[in-house]
Amino acid sequence: MPSSEPVLLAPDPKTDATWWRQAVVYQVYPRSFADTNGDGVGDIPGVTSRIGYLAELGVDAIWLSPFYPSALADGGYDVDDYRDVAPELGTLTDFDALVGAAHAVGIKIVVDIVPNHTSDRHVWFREALASAPGSAARNRYVFRDGQGPDGSLPPSDWTSHFGGPAWTRLVDADGTPGQWYLHLFAPEQPDLNWDNPEVHEEFKTTLRFWADRGVDGYRVDVAHALAKDLSEPLRSKPETPGVLPTDGSDPLFDRDAVHEIYAEWRAVFEEYDPPRTAVAEAFSAPERRALYARPTGLGQAFNFDLLKADFDATEFREVVEFCLAQAATVGSSSTWVLSNHDVVRHATRYGLPAGTDLDAWLMTDGRGTVLDEAQGLRRARAAVMFMLALPGSAYLYQGEELGLPEVADLAAEVLQDPIWLRTLHTKKGRDGSRVPLPWTAEGESYGFGSGSSWLPQPAGWSDAAVDRQVGDDASTLELYRSALRTRRALQTEETLDWVETGRPDVVHFVRPGGWHCVTTFGTEPYALPAGVVRVASAPVVDGQLPGEASAWLTDWPQD
Ligand code: NOJ
Ligand code: CA
Repeated sequence: MPSSEPVLLAPDPKTDATWWRQAVVYQVYPRSFADTNGDGVGDIPGVTSRIGYLAELGVDAIWLSPFYPSALADGGYDVDDYRDVAPELGTLTDFDALVGAAHAVGIKIVVDIVPNHTSDRHVWFREALASAPGSAARNRYVFRDGQGPDGSLPPSDWTSHFGGPAWTRLVDADGTPGQWYLHLFAPEQPDLNWDNPEVHEEFKTTLRFWADRGVDGYRVDVAHALAKDLSEPLRSKPETPGVLPTDGSDPLFDRDAVHEIYAEWRAVFEEYDPPRTAVAEAFSAPERRALYARPTGLGQAFNFDLLKADFDATEFREVVEFCLAQAATVGSSSTWVLSNHDVVRHATRYGLPAGTDLDAWLMTDGRGTVLDEAQGLRRARAAVMFMLALPGSAYLYQGEELGLPEVADLAAEVLQDPIWLRTLHTKKGRDGSRVPLPWTAEGESYGFGSGSSWLPQPAGWSDAAVDRQVGDDASTLELYRSALRTRRALQTEETLDWVETGRPDVVHFVRPGGWHCVTTFGTEPYALPAGVVRVASAPVVDGQLPGEASAWLTDWPQD
């Protein structure tokens, strides 16, 4: 079979091993989803209490962002204990109840694995701090002496993703300065040393721990950073930040050796029936992304190309062609994402002029550039229908089904993202996408909980509340429900054909069986081809799809 052809795995009803290939995965950011005990923080029982909502929405799986014990130096991506639930979020028994409730309605559970770094409160790091340089305990992390006669210069020029140096110097018990340790993120997130076999064993134990509790898959955080070149002298960071080489020669990221780790993990996944699945969060040169998605590796990899694209016909189409071809080279299915907990929500992005510097815009509390909220929502609705019609799996971020915008005007005092601190208050960071959900139009914290919420919700979120949208056919929630229901009914092989529209701003593709998706990226209406309109992001009148809208049509009569 030529490598550009998608390799379809035959579905096996016994093991259901291919469920992930075209799944809709809903990302829950647990602290912001639903709070059952009124402490202002979303919790695991809160997710369980909303399983009915998620089943009605029609998702196939839930990906839970970290719910592990954590001091929240990075929203939970600083993990104290990989095999427990944060006490403020619940217990392992609560977790088991969540898995049971989800599985009972056919929803899979995916957990977040954070293997690049632990938190600085992890028992291993505490042990490392209490142990001497060169000890086995320190060798689980990356400790080095500093440069210069007194060791006061960091061991290399590597920088933290959140700003500042990637090295922090210890102060020994007697008050004298000690060694430095590596943290590609916040200082509270020391990087693990994946040259150490003990680290490999520890994570395999963690993978089995969750698989044994019924977890169906894993989302792997910073999957491209584990295998570092730590040989002496440490190499300098590359000249061009953000552009990774295509030959795996970067000292830190996307090195070939990282795939040896995932081959070991694959063996663990295959111990289970059905095999556990995984999706890599890997930032690499685009053409190397598929390496993470090999069936001998994690099996699937995120691409953020659609998320980064402007709402533009040419960009969207190019992204789709590239990503489908890439995934097919390794027999995986492509992933699609418009929003997550790390980026400005797409209903807001699409309402700002293309090319807006989003970090700078957030610093103006959303007042710097005029935001066209109505346009943002219109385009968001069109874009999600485009995405949901594509072959592959779609990742939704909690609240996007309500059309939630970014909360751009969070006050400095409430910001919790380490980016705010580490950039010396020059970037606000990601909190504006993490504001707790509005469930009811009335009541304390819009039904998020019985008290306040850990990040303040904006006034006027009533209109976005779930109870306002349910039953309103024009609402974004009902659009998602109907699109997910229809997607399930029309789901088909993992291919598409492009259909010429004669308009550069209109994209039309058709899936096997005659499932058509037409999207107008410009503002002009477009006369739809013949067919039955199954779902539309805006009213279709006299066969005309308005501008900035999507419609799904089928060739055959609606039953
Ligand atoms: C990616 C996660 O999505 C992000 O929230 C986190 O800050 C970094 N990885 C570090 O773990
Ligand atoms: Ca709570």
